[in-house]
Amino acid sequence: MMMTKLQPYRILYLLAFLLVLTSCDSGDIVENDTEQESNGYTVRMNAIVSGMAALSDKYTLALATFKANDNYALTVYSIPSTSADNAEVSIVASNITSDVSTVELVVTNRLRQRVISLASINMADYAAATDTIRMNVGTVEVGMTGIIQQHVFNASCIQCHGGNGGNGAADLNLTEGHALANLKDVASTRKEGTFRIVSGNAGQSLLHRILAEGGEDILHYNHTEVLTSQFKNDAPAVRTFIDDWINSMKKDE
Ligand code: HEC
Repeated sequence: MMMTKLQPYRILYLLAFLLVLTSCDSGDIVENDTEQESNGYTVRMNAIVSGMAALSDKYTLALATFKANDNYALTVYSIPSTSADNAEVSIVASNITSDVSTVELVVTNRLRQRVISLASINMADYAAATDTIRMNVGTVEVGMTGIIQQHVFNASCIQCHGGNGGNGAADLNLTEGHALANLKDVASTRKEGTFRIVSGNAGQSLLHRILAEGGEDILHYNHTEVLTSQFKNDAPAVRTFIDDWINSMKKDE
């Protein structure tokens, strides 16, 4: 009695449907196999990112690939500027070719140029890798103040300015937790009538003038070389980043 309800055309539909399903499946599998073999290295970067809202919109936080001696990124995988504080970010860079020398978690400007590298791996160390290369960065502070503290002041300045206890040269303490209060709208102890930083005005700020080209002789110590020796070709972009930081400051905030 039941069989009379299952009419022949229904069985045909069913068969056709099953046929479509199986053909789709096998097609997918073949495609995946060839993809994995023919393309270059893959890097997965994991980080916990905080302070994203405090990065000027002129800049992008990205996982990017670079050739040796080239400060313009080859490929850029941007991290959304809306990332919440302490959000876990996981980004995959794939098809990395053998001419790539570093993969970096980096602040880039609008020209895709490296400004400051926050973490970096050397692809030469992974030449034999066949699996995904892991790049675990941990927690990174990406606001402009945090980046400048960690990657400029801590790296290039505190050895003379407060890192050995006391306030340091020119009574200027640039260590963590002290730098901003020692700079922002604070009168220079060395150049009468000037301020270390004038909020919102890089051009008027002594900090800008002593780091910029032409600022060699303003003080008794030449600061322009401090940035070029640490950042090499990236030094001009770092100077602009510091200027943008100063220009973004508001008095009494
Ligand atoms: C090798 C030591 C040394 C390093 C490194 C150094 N400075 Fe200085 N800095 C000095 C000395 C010495 C003076 C005072 C110069 C003078 O008396 O004319 C000074 C003065 C200054 C002043 C002027 C302070 C004022 O009140 O007039 C600023 C601003 C400054 N440094 C910022 C920096 C920054 C930013 C860095 C890192 C990028 C840095 N310095 C790295 C030695 C250093």
